[in-house]
Amino acid sequence: MILLPPAILPNKTYTMSVIKVFDKEFVPYLPEALILEKVKELAAALNNDYKGKKPLFISVLNGSFMFSSDLFKELNIEAEICFIKLASYKGTKSSGNVITAIGLDTDITDRHVVVLEDIIDTGKTMYEFLRQLSNQQPLSLKVAILLHKPEATRFPIPIDYCCFSIPNKFVLGYGLDYDGLGRNIREIYQLKEGDIEH
Ligand code: IMP
Ligand code: MG
Repeated sequence: MILLPPAILPNKTYTMSVIKVFDKEFVPYLPEALILEKVKELAAALNNDYKGKKPLFISVLNGSFMFSSDLFKELNIEAEICFIKLASYKGTKSSGNVITAIGLDTDITDRHVVVLEDIIDTGKTMYEFLRQLSNQQPLSLKVAILLHKPEATRFPIPIDYCCFSIPNKFVLGYGLDYDGLGRNIREIYQLKEGDIEH
């Protein structure tokens, strides 16, 4: 007999409670069921918009691994996915921060491309990455994200698909981390009022 850990036993409701990660306290914000519902809705829109187009999804690691996996499972169209990491380093004074995509070995020329990202905060990283991708002449280039913090976004990013718009507060869980921890939490938690953002 296989004993299931309590968290995956069926028909049991769990109340989310305050959690502590390092020095900070986080309060429940988005329950798992709601996240999965929104991810399914987003997948339905993609199934509709990309039928017959064989899109290439570019998932930006680390934060978007859980979102990408749940989303990709819901797609019923022909689609490819690849996983990249964005490394940012200081360029010259005029070029500012330079971003390199590690692991992008698929040619995106003449492809319908959808970038999958966990969260757009200031939008700086995504802005630079999109600029580089568009230079490679994709047939189309769209962005699908789990979370958007509109109050924090300073770069003009076209956000084509988004699950949740959230206030400008630090969140973790469902792939997102606080100093490396918290990615495995199924729900999304928000920094407790009064705790200072890092
Ligand atoms: P941006 O370039 O400012 O838009 O932020 C890029 C990255 O910062 C995201 O891809 C996340 O990895 C991280 N990030 C921004 N806000 C949060 C948050 O509230 N929780 C966890 N990670 C975050
Ligand atoms: Mg990220």
